[in-house]
Amino acid sequence: MRSPSELFKSVIDRLRGNDKKKIPPGNNDTKAGGDGMNASLGRNDTRKILRLGLDYGTSASKLVIRDEEAPGGARAYVVGNNNGGYRFPSSVYYVPSDGRLLLGVRPPPGKEAVEYHSIKMRVAEDAVNGEARYFYGNRFDYPRGWSSKDLAVLSVWYLLSEASRWGKSAFPRFGEVLISVTMGIPMSFQDDQRIKAAFLDVIRAAQRLQKIHGLLKESEIEADPALALIKDSLDHVIKNPIDEDRHRAWLRTEAESALFWAFHSPSVPPGLYAKVDIGAGTTNCSTFTIPEAYNEGAQLWRKEKIGFFSALSGCLGTDALHEQMLKTLPNISSSDDLKGKENDILARQADCGIGNLVREIYTEVHQKNWQKARRVYPSEEAWKNFMVIVIGGGGQIDRVRDEFKNHPSPNWKHWSDYHPQLKIMPLSIPDDLFLGDRNGKPKQGDLPFLMVAYGLSNSEFSVPQVTSPQDTPPIRPYRNSVREIEEADAIR
Ligand SMILES: Nc1ncnc2c1ncn2[C@@H]1O[C@H](COP(=O)(O)OP(=O)(O)OP(=O)(O)O)[C@@H](O)[C@H]1O
Ligand SMILES: [Mg+2]
Repeated sequence: MRSPSELFKSVIDRLRGNDKKKIPPGNNDTKAGGDGMNASLGRNDTRKILRLGLDYGTSASKLVIRDEEAPGGARAYVVGNNNGGYRFPSSVYYVPSDGRLLLGVRPPPGKEAVEYHSIKMRVAEDAVNGEARYFYGNRFDYPRGWSSKDLAVLSVWYLLSEASRWGKSAFPRFGEVLISVTMGIPMSFQDDQRIKAAFLDVIRAAQRLQKIHGLLKESEIEADPALALIKDSLDHVIKNPIDEDRHRAWLRTEAESALFWAFHSPSVPPGLYAKVDIGAGTTNCSTFTIPEAYNEGAQLWRKEKIGFFSALSGCLGTDALHEQMLKTLPNISSSDDLKGKENDILARQADCGIGNLVREIYTEVHQKNWQKARRVYPSEEAWKNFMVIVIGGGGQIDRVRDEFKNHPSPNWKHWSDYHPQLKIMPLSIPDDLFLGDRNGKPKQGDLPFLMVAYGLSNSEFSVPQVTSPQDTPPIRPYRNSVREIEEADAIR
């Protein structure tokens, strides 16, 4: 039998792209990723250093790369996929006839393949030995020897390769393009040490694979040799843990990252907010305040920081909605046929039995979360007109979105002066966010999908100081901005 190192040698050429990556001296595993990479390398004209925000989604991943040193000021770019979009499907397909795995593409028609979807949620469920339910949909066995974590490492390695390929083509005059990465995880994953540890292993092992073995050349790879590399890399990172104070450089919560733009956007005035991210596998909700403070130097009132009241994440999202919809839609057999078409389908077949689930998402996450916030900040008056920011793919489904216009207070229907429902806040497109061609701008409809990756692409130090609300200045009554309300109405 060949040793792992011999095995590596024989498969590297098949797995690696032409653009073999040079490993800078001293850039060992514990320094790669997060801000450690910047710190360890310093600046050099032939070397471009970029930051990648990797939003590893249950159904699709989104990649935003930030160039802090762009002429005229930092810029962030959305990395495109091969189909002209920017959502990298998270499913991995296994083709048993040739023992290959497909990443980022569907199998060609007629080719028998097994789909492994929602791997992110399976990693969480497996990390807690099935004690909690995170995964919705048909259960499947992984290819022999593979675990959900191995598949996640492979997927993230592929995503890092896509980001790296983009970096090299966007900055051809640089001899070397180095990318440090931060990945997002739901708040509920962060709170469970076992799940957090699993994702820390995933991102570190994937980064190490890319550093040592280069880019995954194609979307189609041989399963057995890839598995040997992945097991070896996981083994290495598990045996070489990093200090806890460096975890944030690798992993940050999706909730915090999504708030980054809410804070900076000029179209978001100071006030009280809830932000709800309805993804495929999870719904993340946070309530917060953006208080104003008078800046003596600039002689201006400015949004100062974010005060967190509460955050909660639940494991119901569009996967669970699809599971329910499929039960009532005899002509549709796969949730793939529902993705992005939910509004059309629901327009034709109004309920599809999802009413209870939508309310469950609303009650379990939004209402419970708001009740926690209300305990911290009891002024009912101030909460009467708070604003809601709804992002994620589930937030694009009108039936779901409309539910979030209801006030989470159980009393709201009895308030005589309460009218109308809560406003769903639109967000303007960040000035510094561009498409991967480096000129075009994302569309308004893309923003709900990109907010997390955009926030993650910023260094942990540029994220606004998130404080406990006790530290924040008193909240002023919410002032409706006529322009914003008009914008909101124009969009929905
Ligand atoms: N216009 C759209 N384009 C794509 N997906 C859409 C659209 N409208 C609704 N959806 C739904 O959004 C879901 C994906 O949402 P999103 O990309 O926010 O999830 P995710 O980030 O992969 O999941 P999670 O955050 O739970 O890990 C799809 O499963 C699809 O059903
Ligand atoms: Mg998401």
